[in-house]
Amino acid sequence: MSESSRRKPRVLSGVQPSGSLHIGNYLGALLQWRDLQDTYENFFCVVDLHALTVPENVKAAGLREKTLEVAALYLASGIDPARSTVFVQSEVAAHAELAWLLTCVSPLGWLQRMTQFKTKSDVASTVGAGLLTYPALMAADILLYEADQVPVGADQKQHIELARDVAARFNDMFGPTFKLPNPMIPPTGARVMGLDNPEQKMSKSISAPGHAIGLLDPPNVVKKAIMRAVTDTGSELVWAEASPGVKNLISIFAAITGESADAVAARYEGRGYGYLKKDLVDAVEGALLPLRARYTELRADPTYLNEVLDAGAERARSVAEPVLARAKAAAGLGRGR
Ligand code: TYM
Repeated sequence: MSESSRRKPRVLSGVQPSGSLHIGNYLGALLQWRDLQDTYENFFCVVDLHALTVPENVKAAGLREKTLEVAALYLASGIDPARSTVFVQSEVAAHAELAWLLTCVSPLGWLQRMTQFKTKSDVASTVGAGLLTYPALMAADILLYEADQVPVGADQKQHIELARDVAARFNDMFGPTFKLPNPMIPPTGARVMGLDNPEQKMSKSISAPGHAIGLLDPPNVVKKAIMRAVTDTGSELVWAEASPGVKNLISIFAAITGESADAVAARYEGRGYGYLKKDLVDAVEGALLPLRARYTELRADPTYLNEVLDAGAERARSVAEPVLARAKAAAGLGRGR
């Protein structure tokens, strides 16, 4: 049996080590990853090369410190290194190398159309070219592992579609080389909005108090953010007419407990928002309490974390390097020796 017919389907995903991880990252990405571990062969990377595209985000805390923090948060969320390969993107050189090949086959117009590029380049005063070519690097992350599925929040769907298009274009130009990946978006929690402004996606780069529920925020800070979350001028829940703020709280609740939004809403129908918020504080705390405890243990044992990341990088290289070699050969690079 060939290697490809023997193995389980693969997933690859990653989080940028910029800003502080929040409940959106947890519900959109980490929780899915944790639950997929037995079904798939898993590769989860901390995408530090991507974080360089917005240097302001990483300057304050230091990129290396953030990289370790994110890796520890993967494990604290239940990613098990015995079942999943956890590694740091920049430690597997094939990512940067394949990114160059893919940059060369990505039409400029495709990159300029990306929503993330348009939003981030609008606000930044001097934008590095990496912000534009960012999706080619992300395509490299995915294609190197021949990932079948890419579990992400809704905001990343466009990038995965681009990775698919770039893979197809490379295959057309140079012959069949890459497998085409699919996005995998959870049914609830795929787009968590800011608690202070439910029209805006909860974001790592917004540090205003009350905006996000940080995975490492102390319980009193989490409680305050939820109790102050924007709802609407009504005082009781009417699900059929719920405002974006109320819908956001209900969907966070549903994603955490694994219920449907309708089931959660039915419990609070006709009751004051205070009840919903108080129970949501408990549900969030129920998930974050063990996560914080495990995180603290992991950070107290850097040897273990480094061993996991060393082994992860080695395993990742063993999968990525043959795929890179195939792509280089297809494109006619080097001398074939
Ligand atoms: P990043 O670091 O912005 O976010 C990490 C993951 O969290 C999800 N997410 C959310 N989900 C629900 N609600 C939100 N408010 C929310 N905010 C973020 C994201 O969808 C993502 O799944 N480009 C990627 C990182 C990346 C990547 C990859 C992902 C680089 N290479 C390869 C998958 C495969 C990013 O910036 O994610």
